[in-house]
Amino acid sequence: MQVKEFQNTLLSWYKVKGRHTLPWRNKTIPNRAYVVLISEIMLQQTQVKVVLERYFFPFLEKFPNLEALSQAKEEDILLSWQGLGYYTRPRNLQKLAKICAKTGLPREVESLIKLPGIGAYTAGAIACFGYDVSVSFVDSNIKRILIRLFALKNPSQKQLEQKAKAILNLQDSFNHNQALLDLGALICTAKSPKCTICPISKFCQGKDFWQTLTIKTQKRNLKKSLHLAICIKDSKIALIKSTQKLYFGLYNFPEISHSMTHQQIGILKHAYTKYTLKVHCYITQQSAIANSKAEFFHTDSLDSIPLSSLALKVIKLLQVKNILKSPL
Ligand code: ADE
Repeated sequence: MQVKEFQNTLLSWYKVKGRHTLPWRNKTIPNRAYVVLISEIMLQQTQVKVVLERYFFPFLEKFPNLEALSQAKEEDILLSWQGLGYYTRPRNLQKLAKICAKTGLPREVESLIKLPGIGAYTAGAIACFGYDVSVSFVDSNIKRILIRLFALKNPSQKQLEQKAKAILNLQDSFNHNQALLDLGALICTAKSPKCTICPISKFCQGKDFWQTLTIKTQKRNLKKSLHLAICIKDSKIALIKSTQKLYFGLYNFPEISHSMTHQQIGILKHAYTKYTLKVHCYITQQSAIANSKAEFFHTDSLDSIPLSSLALKVIKLLQVKNILKSPL
């Protein structure tokens, strides 16, 4: 492959079709590396649209720098993350902020990668997008492009990283890497790549048999049933603070064992890591949760409590059923 020609073709496409207005791509914002850190952590498991519309700006307003984040109450950080899922992310962010508040975020990949919650991809992205360091990295989008571009069958992470490095544009790594992310999101998509309008199709060795170059994804095929107690007393509702790793610090509804004696008000579907949950919701008496560590919260104050995504879904159900008041 003519690497220089490939790089120029990619950059020309990006110049015209790239998502230049994404706020974390603005090179003139103060504290750029911190802004990039927050965006990259949010974008790890969540779509650009959701991050942009609901989370990115409010989070930065509340925690504008590492110092503010390091001193925040964990509960406030979780509240700003509510609905994004994967709550180890905000807790790691605060651990990182406590380590780096005085010194600032490092700019070298080798130092970044030692910080809590920062893997090889995120370290590279912060160095490149936050500090203009010329480094390559591989996320799931870039991986898909490389597999197709070089027709790789079951490549190792090391092979992928070598390929990413081999095509890196050292003169403009910032735009080169952003362009790859956009190409993966807009053209070289997982299920229906738009090869006919792909700017780099002439370099692509796998375009005619991309279906055979599959990428293993984590399957969500473990089914589980969950039985939740909705216990309301004197306008207060029972919730329980989770100590489970993934949910730590968030409030959930108390679990009960399967029971025919309570009134079932609905069944919800919920995806949680590798599980597909069927969630049965029951109205119960306080005696049903007597042995749990449930705490009672006024039903008007639920928006100031960090709730799990599942708890938020249950509350929506209660509002639809007129068991709880809908917000005005
Ligand atoms: N996903 C991860 N990083 C991104 C970025 N910088 N722009 C768009 N999507 C991304």
